[in-house]
Amino acid sequence: MKREAAKSKATAVLPEPASVAWPLACDQPASGSPRPFLKWAGGKGQLLGDLRELVPGTYGTYFEPFLGGGAVYFELKPQKAFLNDINAALVGSYLNVKRRPDAVIERLRLLQDEYLGAPEQARAEMFYRVRDEYNVLPDHTPQKAACLIFLNKTCYNGMYRESSTGQFNVPFGKYRNPRILDEENLRGASALLAGAELSSAPFEAAVCQARKDDFVYFDPPYHPLSQTSSFTSYHARDFAEADQERLRDVFVDLAKRGCLVMLSNSYTEFVRDLYRGFHQHTVLANRAINCKATGRGKIKELVVTNYRP
Ligand SMILES: C[S@@+](CC[C@H](N)C(=O)[O-])C[C@H]1O[C@@H](n2cnc3c(N)ncnc32)[C@H](O)[C@@H]1O
Repeated sequence: MKREAAKSKATAVLPEPASVAWPLACDQPASGSPRPFLKWAGGKGQLLGDLRELVPGTYGTYFEPFLGGGAVYFELKPQKAFLNDINAALVGSYLNVKRRPDAVIERLRLLQDEYLGAPEQARAEMFYRVRDEYNVLPDHTPQKAACLIFLNKTCYNGMYRESSTGQFNVPFGKYRNPRILDEENLRGASALLAGAELSSAPFEAAVCQARKDDFVYFDPPYHPLSQTSSFTSYHARDFAEADQERLRDVFVDLAKRGCLVMLSNSYTEFVRDLYRGFHQHTVLANRAINCKATGRGKIKELVVTNYRP
């Protein structure tokens, strides 16, 4: 029941792409293969250098309860990990890349061949056909994983957005020559994921098994910078201040258990107050902060740790 409520929150109606200034994922290739195979909103690709400096030198099991594209996971490549995201289709894609890479690759190759061999109008029609298919397929099938990767590479800005009824509804992206299938990377990801347990649950449930000296990295939807921007109103609906407070309580509980905990969030008074008493570090990120070109720039973000890096 609780899980249902959380899921329905995660599928809230979002503004149209023309008006939304989305926190674009800027996933630069991580050092060496495998790299993230999905581009995800709020991706940490551009901050990997800074985050690496803040990661503990040694730790037991790695936990990432808000996985998204998993930029930090793929950078650290831990041998043992618990990975989670409330988005069941997203987790389904990781599960299939892990267990059935051949089936995902085979399906993706068919999609890539059809797409690259077609003129633009036919590409758009194909995109919408695959999007319809994606929306009716069960979450944990290799077909759905392949559709998600295909849509991620060919949709507008690599966004992931669902309607109020949980349908993926991002429009066609008109890319000339997108790299839809990166077989070597998917095989590398599959090998790395062999050491990971995957779940799709609210963040609290995803850290039940964390023990002393385990490392937990939280990258939740960010607290809004202001109450007015479209970017922040999306987050405000999706992950409210009460959720941020529950997350702080989980952070404190893990710290008491002897875990090493790191969290990224926006640099706001609200978040700084929540984590007063913990180590607070600032990093600079390139983010779209409003819908105008001038709204892009470097902004301060906060990283909190319960240990001195
Ligand atoms: C900022 S993104 C993570 C980005 C990721 N670190 C990356 O590099 O791509 C936040 C993720 O949290 C997930 N999420 C939102 N609410 C959640 C909840 N209550 N529990 C678990 N995951 C949640 C979203 O589906 C989204 O994928």
